[in-house]
Amino acid sequence: MTYEEVLQKAAEVLKPKCRVCKECNGIACRGEIPGVGAAGDASSFTLCRDYFSKIRLHMDAVHEHFEADTSLELFGCTLAGPVMVAPIGGMPFNYTNVLTETEYCEAVVFGANEAGIIAFTGDGPLDDYFPSTLPVINAAEGRGIPTIKPWGKEKLFDRIKDISATNCPAFAMDIDSAALVNLKLQGKPAYAKSEEEIREIVQEAGRPFIVKGVMTAESALRCARAGAYAIVVSNHGGRIMQDALPPISVLREIKDAVGDQMKVLVDGGIRSGSDVFKCLALGADAVLIGRPYAIAAHGGGAEGVALYTEKILQELKETMLMTDCPRLADITQDKIRMYPA
Ligand SMILES: Cc1cc2nc3c(=O)[nH]c(=O)nc-3n(C[C@H](O)[C@H](O)[C@H](O)COP(=O)(O)O)c2cc1C
Repeated sequence: MTYEEVLQKAAEVLKPKCRVCKECNGIACRGEIPGVGAAGDASSFTLCRDYFSKIRLHMDAVHEHFEADTSLELFGCTLAGPVMVAPIGGMPFNYTNVLTETEYCEAVVFGANEAGIIAFTGDGPLDDYFPSTLPVINAAEGRGIPTIKPWGKEKLFDRIKDISATNCPAFAMDIDSAALVNLKLQGKPAYAKSEEEIREIVQEAGRPFIVKGVMTAESALRCARAGAYAIVVSNHGGRIMQDALPPISVLREIKDAVGDQMKVLVDGGIRSGSDVFKCLALGADAVLIGRPYAIAAHGGGAEGVALYTEKILQELKETMLMTDCPRLADITQDKIRMYPA
């Protein structure tokens, strides 16, 4: 199977929910939630693409030839590259019924592992969804990162207990889901969490905890003080609210605030190896990609997910060669420039 074939099949099976656009930029699916779109005028998503296009790369091609090394260590795992599959849930209402939640979870977890990276799995308003992700992670020898919604304390701690029965290297919470429309529509309330509540979660879980949905330096510092292993700078693919800033635009100030106290991950509109490079140049340790992985899973299952990962990592390697960055640590801010300034 080629990646082109994956896209063709995805376009057939995802109609009318996702148009599998040439560039996945949030314009055609504007406002479609439930669905794959972003909230309201979708600017919280579409502006990500505008911002990425203004970050330009410094080409630097006179040097010894090398094969770039994209590998890294995160939460005690070796990854083939600084890319992970973002959690995506709600197959029955956000996508077509071609894949069940479990089949989607299998595609991303097994496909990510095949390509040497790791997938986050999701949670949602349907009660049987989250528990169904854990056996899939176990079948992949623990290589998957469960993500829980910011439920009330009792349900949250039940979920943490369920996670402790797996040997996953870390788990996450999409803290911004406290305002998610899909949860409200189905009468499943979720709640914002304070620094103290994050500290309690870290202590209860006893394994690396990742807070997803952090968009300010102040909140990042709260997570660091509470003992989080990492944050994901994210606006949930623009699905929480319109008029949010693009995560890439706040990445540098957040990294400058937290320094090396914890890992900094980012997502939102990342569509190529060159975009991954730009995120690393602005201080990210690694990135998450959402919608394109859902397209790959619908078009080619685990094989589609692995093919898409290989494509992105190959693009990253080529970008590193053309900017004289043999290793990820060489990707520094001087390798990029805002244009126009
Ligand atoms: C249909 C859909 C469902 C999603 N479900 C979840 C979820 O269950 N948990 C979560 O943390 N994020 C969820 N997200 C957000 C993604 O994890 C990620 O933050 C976002 O999609 C990244 O942007 P990108 O799609 O532009 O790469 C969802 C996004 C979409 C499009």
